[in-house]
Amino acid sequence: MSFDRIARHYRWLETAAFGSILQMARTRWIEKIAEAKRVLILGEGNGRFLCELLSAYPKAAVDCVDASARMLDLAHGRVLKVLPQALSGVRFLREDIVSWSPSGSYDLLVTNFVLDCFGQDEVSLIIRKLAQAATPDAYLFLSDFCVSRKYFSRVHAKIWLAVMYRFFRATTGIRAKRLADPTNELGANGFVCLSRSHWRLGLVKSELWQRRDDSIQAGTVSKGAIFG
Ligand SMILES: C[S@@+](CC[C@H](N)C(=O)[O-])C[C@H]1O[C@@H](n2cnc3c(N)ncnc32)[C@H](O)[C@@H]1O
Repeated sequence: MSFDRIARHYRWLETAAFGSILQMARTRWIEKIAEAKRVLILGEGNGRFLCELLSAYPKAAVDCVDASARMLDLAHGRVLKVLPQALSGVRFLREDIVSWSPSGSYDLLVTNFVLDCFGQDEVSLIIRKLAQAATPDAYLFLSDFCVSRKYFSRVHAKIWLAVMYRFFRATTGIRAKRLADPTNELGANGFVCLSRSHWRLGLVKSELWQRRDDSIQAGTVSKGAIFG
């Protein structure tokens, strides 16, 4: 599996397919949380989210993990160009997030359009790793595709996902064939969904989660929208 081959084309492909929607989803919760001191971004890609994050939280120490050397190069180059003063706070780690284990504790975790590259077992494993690396009240920004329950939206999503999985399986070698759902595993690991936004008939979602140890004891996956 490698995104190296499509790294340089990722931006225009995204714009052609979704316009600015994916970037709106990625950045939906930036500045909704007061601060981020230590951030872990899994599968950052070309650095567009990273630059927005650094503009909002210039003092944050960021670990940016991606398996693709070309994606990391693009992300590094983008920060160097846009926010060179912030570069010293970022570590670019070329790692496979399935075998890599984070150390230390992060108060903000980010998975933008990356969990869709994995099957259900790997998604569960990744969520457990994130929970272990999270501070007790850490936030999680999670953007991804999803399938709505409404009939027309569901058909629309299934067509798009079939095309996207076919494309990414052919060009990058990802093994996943369908979307895995991280919701139950997040709840089981103490994360509570605070708010959620949707675009494109529900095909694109962005969620703000927070870790709350009391939710594990209570056995709940409660939802309480705090932001519009
Ligand atoms: C679909 S792209 C999403 C990129 C970006 N986060 C975005 O919002 O568009 C998936 C990214 O995750 C990275 N990735 C996929 N599998 C990975 C793995 N096992 N370990 C680390 N990074 C991985 C890819 O290299 C790529 O940069």
